Amino acid sequence: MSTTRTPVDPTATAAWKRLTELHKSMEPDLRAWFAQDPQRAERYSYEVGDLFVDLSKNFLTDEVRDALVELAEAVDVPGRRDAMFAGEHINITEDRAVLHTALRRPATDTLTVDGQDVVADVHEVLEKIYAFARRVRSGEWTGVTGKPIKTVVNIGIGGSDLGPVMVYEALRPYVQEGLEARFISNIDPNDCAEKVSDLDPETTLFIIASKTFTTLETLTNARMARTWLLEALAARGISTDGAVAKHFVAVSTALDKVEAFGIDPANAFGFWNWVGGRYSVDSAVGTVLAVTVGPENFADFLSGFHAVDEHFATKAPAENVPMLMGLLNVWYVNFFQAASHAVLPYAQYLHRFPAYLQQLTMESNGKSVRWDGSPVVADTGEIFWGEPGTNGQHAFFQLLHQGTRLIPADFITVANPAHPVKDGEADVHELLLSNFLAQTAALAFGKTADEVRAEGTPEAIVPARVFSGNRPTTSILAPALTPTVVGQLIALYEHITFTEGIVWGIDSFDQWGVELGKKLALEIAPAVRGDEAAYAGQDASTRQLIDRYRGLRH
Ligand code: F6P
Repeated sequence: MSTTRTPVDPTATAAWKRLTELHKSMEPDLRAWFAQDPQRAERYSYEVGDLFVDLSKNFLTDEVRDALVELAEAVDVPGRRDAMFAGEHINITEDRAVLHTALRRPATDTLTVDGQDVVADVHEVLEKIYAFARRVRSGEWTGVTGKPIKTVVNIGIGGSDLGPVMVYEALRPYVQEGLEARFISNIDPNDCAEKVSDLDPETTLFIIASKTFTTLETLTNARMARTWLLEALAARGISTDGAVAKHFVAVSTALDKVEAFGIDPANAFGFWNWVGGRYSVDSAVGTVLAVTVGPENFADFLSGFHAVDEHFATKAPAENVPMLMGLLNVWYVNFFQAASHAVLPYAQYLHRFPAYLQQLTMESNGKSVRWDGSPVVADTGEIFWGEPGTNGQHAFFQLLHQGTRLIPADFITVANPAHPVKDGEADVHELLLSNFLAQTAALAFGKTADEVRAEGTPEAIVPARVFSGNRPTTSILAPALTPTVVGQLIALYEHITFTEGIVWGIDSFDQWGVELGKKLALEIAPAVRGDEAAYAGQDASTRQLIDRYRGLRH
């Protein structure tokens, strides 16, 4: 299939018809399915890299799997995948290649795209980042007064923030002692103010991360940080000459704009327009990670991605874990009308993973038109959300267990905690794991009225205590939260997102939906500032809110 060809209408395929029939006749009964098939758990479990993925508690049968695989083939997920890996311009609306997979290829590979060996380019930048990271980590890179760096502050938003924050949090045990990262993203001035308030300007290094280097939030925060630095140094009687060069580096595809901001291009790390913002944590956008966890761990992180890339690129659809998971999501969205998908890490260090996935999945697949501009023919894009377990259990799990909506959920955990601790006889990590197992079992198998009655429950409250079960979950178990495993988890969800996007025929790599609000904010800003002509051009509600704001503002 050529990259620009009209997408296949998935609803017109024989596989879709088959799935419709299967859905109509299906009465999900996980209790019975497990009872009838002692091999079920094993049969629907897979390995990808170090991840063990158990799909058996899903609404999955051999017939469903076969029809989903047939659907993937009918819409040419494999062909489109190959086109992505080869560097074809599958980002149609921006006419770009989509090559985040090239960011994690080993240096021994080559991939020529538009006449350029992109793998060589990637490794040239990686070496520059690693050299910089080593200098900061060893104390060779110093601030303007000769002191080593203690705090690295990443300023970015969206893909230039969420990935670095999530991975930094996930890999905290790998952060070099004496080094710390902070992240400023929001244009709310309180974000920057709070994050720098207790910092020592002499030992602070800012990384301005912006693919475009035009993003209002990031450039505003970068200017505020620069002002803070210069004022804080001056307040100590320190000359600010050359301070920006010592305390600011940048990550961007727009190196000319970096220079215009006043950052020495020698201290800028580039990447390319074929890396989407939400797919960029493994590019120079991860510089804050290379500095804090070190080049070796960053290289392991990249090798984790690559292992899953290899699996996705080579495994047949029926054995291809990201593809199967993406297809299962389509099954739930389009046939069971599931509108949301929970991601529940039973690993405190992954507490930002759901937020990270929100951008990855929703900015990618929240679309109403296909890549040829025609309207989509089926619902697209689930709402991804979640919180770490066990905290979520005491908040929203009630709705997962007994609410009226079907919410497929991914449970993620690891076998080995970074901090193995005992509480008396109990291994505390095993208490966490027991909760993980208990929740997935409860969601799958529920509790019948008879079981509730057998506990002596008064009849009047039996219905309230019944659990229907048949609430689908996927369990993902990794050996430990290593850099490699974190890379694998991210790549897994990247390829799940890709698979769904291809079935729906959408360009998962543009994000035009964020543009209107950005433009309006720039138009409204003068009205808020008091420009009468700009104010007069606003709608009645906006004017009223501006009036109210002016009345309230001291
Ligand atoms: O607003 C959306 C977006 O373009 C994201 O896709 C991107 O990750 C983010 O803004 C930040 O963009 P940049 O890295 O260019 O500052």
